[in-house]
Amino acid sequence: MTARIIDGTAIAARIREQLLVEAQSFTKRTRVRPGLVVILVGDNPASQVYVRSKRKACLDLGWYSDVIHLPAETEQRRVEETIDKLNADPLVHGILLQLPLPDHLDEQTLLQRIRPEKDVDGFHPLNVGKLVLGLPAPIPCTPLGIQRLLIEEGIETSGKFAVVVGRSNIVGKPVATLLMRKGPGGDATVCVCHSRSENLPQIIRQADILIAAVGRPHFIKGGWIKPGATVIDVGINRVDDPDAPRGYRLVGDVDFENARAIAGAITPVPGGVGPMTIAMLLHNTLWCAKNLTA
Ligand code: GUN
Repeated sequence: MTARIIDGTAIAARIREQLLVEAQSFTKRTRVRPGLVVILVGDNPASQVYVRSKRKACLDLGWYSDVIHLPAETEQRRVEETIDKLNADPLVHGILLQLPLPDHLDEQTLLQRIRPEKDVDGFHPLNVGKLVLGLPAPIPCTPLGIQRLLIEEGIETSGKFAVVVGRSNIVGKPVATLLMRKGPGGDATVCVCHSRSENLPQIIRQADILIAAVGRPHFIKGGWIKPGATVIDVGINRVDDPDAPRGYRLVGDVDFENARAIAGAITPVPGGVGPMTIAMLLHNTLWCAKNLTA
């Protein structure tokens, strides 16, 4: 059996079309155009690529978007002032502080400085709390995109055994929370594994749904996967490839070629979760714009 390839690019394009229509009717009614500003500190090459595509996605829908690019050595106080200004700017409904930050900056203090109502990443402790409680709030983009992929693909989560590999604040913890919440794309039995987990292959072999978010290229082997399982690969790892135009290529956390022979459905890298993250960022920006305008 060869796994069905889940086309995140196509699903994300459909969602963007829906958001375009939804935003047009919102703007017509309120005269408000959704606005997103991304703060990028330093020159992390991968972050620069992500930030550019986030801005472009907004502009493509005719929304307001800007990137504030600060030098790597910017002081904490300067970043705080930048956030304060955006918090007070009525044209800005979403503020995204691109991670990772340079080591001298205090990530949590900065994330907590963003007005929770403009927190399109859902990283503010208030929004994390709301996510856990099942209250309305912006939900982290990658986890929300994963859940939406499962729903759009008609993959049943209710009662299924979902294994999340990785316990980050950006993906592992929130996706585990979403999968165990009540409702569509939820009601799963969730197990979270990480670098200290023992017997990882044995646990993964039981997964009906596997979410791989470790950030290590080809860490999860094809032979670990349960036949017919759904595999969602969140990894975007650069590996050297002298034959590739840029000298590297992108691979996931899962050994794709071997996994696809065993899984029932699998997301490719690139073209799986990545485009969904951006679609959900747009979704959250519109959500925040609506809530701030109500
Ligand atoms: N870095 C990698 N993924 C993300 C994300 O979803 N949001 C932010 N702010 N930074 C990231």
